[in-house]
Amino acid sequence: MVVDIEGVPLHLAHPDEIPVQWVGQEEVMRQLLAAWLVVDPQDLPMNPRVLGKPGVGKTTLAYAAARRLGREVYIMQATVDTRPEDLLITPVIEGAGRLRYVASPLMTAMIRGGVVILDEGNRMSEKSWASLAPLLDNRRYVESIVAGIKIKAHPLFRLVATMNDDASTFDLPEYIHSRLQPQILIDFPEREEEYAILRENLPFGDEQILNYVTDFLQQAHAADERYTVRDGINIGRFAVKLRRLIGDQMRLREALHVAILETLGEEALRYVPRA
Ligand SMILES: Nc1ncnc2c1ncn2[C@@H]1O[C@H](COP(=O)(O)OP(=O)(O)OP(=O)(O)O)[C@@H](O)[C@H]1O
Ligand SMILES: [Mg+2]
Repeated sequence: MVVDIEGVPLHLAHPDEIPVQWVGQEEVMRQLLAAWLVVDPQDLPMNPRVLGKPGVGKTTLAYAAARRLGREVYIMQATVDTRPEDLLITPVIEGAGRLRYVASPLMTAMIRGGVVILDEGNRMSEKSWASLAPLLDNRRYVESIVAGIKIKAHPLFRLVATMNDDASTFDLPEYIHSRLQPQILIDFPEREEEYAILRENLPFGDEQILNYVTDFLQQAHAADERYTVRDGINIGRFAVKLRRLIGDQMRLREALHVAILETLGEEALRYVPRA
């Protein structure tokens, strides 16, 4: 799709369609939806930041919340190489001396009134964040130097950034930090919720496998280990595959043991549930 902004034809991105269902953990969902709410003509939506360990469900929460609003969702993957123009508009050469201007997922969401998930935002440099500063306060616009235009966000535009707490990341400068509020922390789920999340993601896994993996994860959480439900899903999935291939001569516990070892390594075996 192409739109015309101040005489510049802009090629828009496609929304992301992923089949996800948010299970349990309604408190963080409510916080995220509340941050996006506009309660008065004088009010503005906030730009929340979802925090948590790798694999706790940050991207899934952001996506599921955006879908609950019924809006188009655009996922913008941030990396250390993300440049300011990558966030906004990039010029692409289109034949002899002609340029095509391509809008990023973020820019497309701004124009169409969709939701953008700035995923893994902590990997992005300060320079890139700086280009978003006016978008994140009451100005709600950005300026594309490349295309020479200023774009105002659609009133329905919403933004959420996800960030994990690993070391390979930049520290955000204070003026950006203060614009990405509130901070919504996803913690490890309770046993029942964790079981339900595994069930949602492994609908073909039998109860014994799901219970085993849930017990494993809960013990790891109690020891404040970094293992998350994503690891649990991988373990369960691999165990199911092993048994499908090898058949019943491989005992269930043996398959799960191998799956834990091959997913998380030796250290993880100390959380194996007792028979
Ligand atoms: N509450 C939940 N409901 C449904 N699925 C969940 C939930 N929490 C986590 N998951 C599942 O856990 C897996 C990891 O989630 P996700 O990719 O959102 O994690 P993340 O925090 O974004 O990880 P990373 O930091 O690596 O980007 C996904 O398969 C997701 O479906
Ligand atoms: Mg993620």
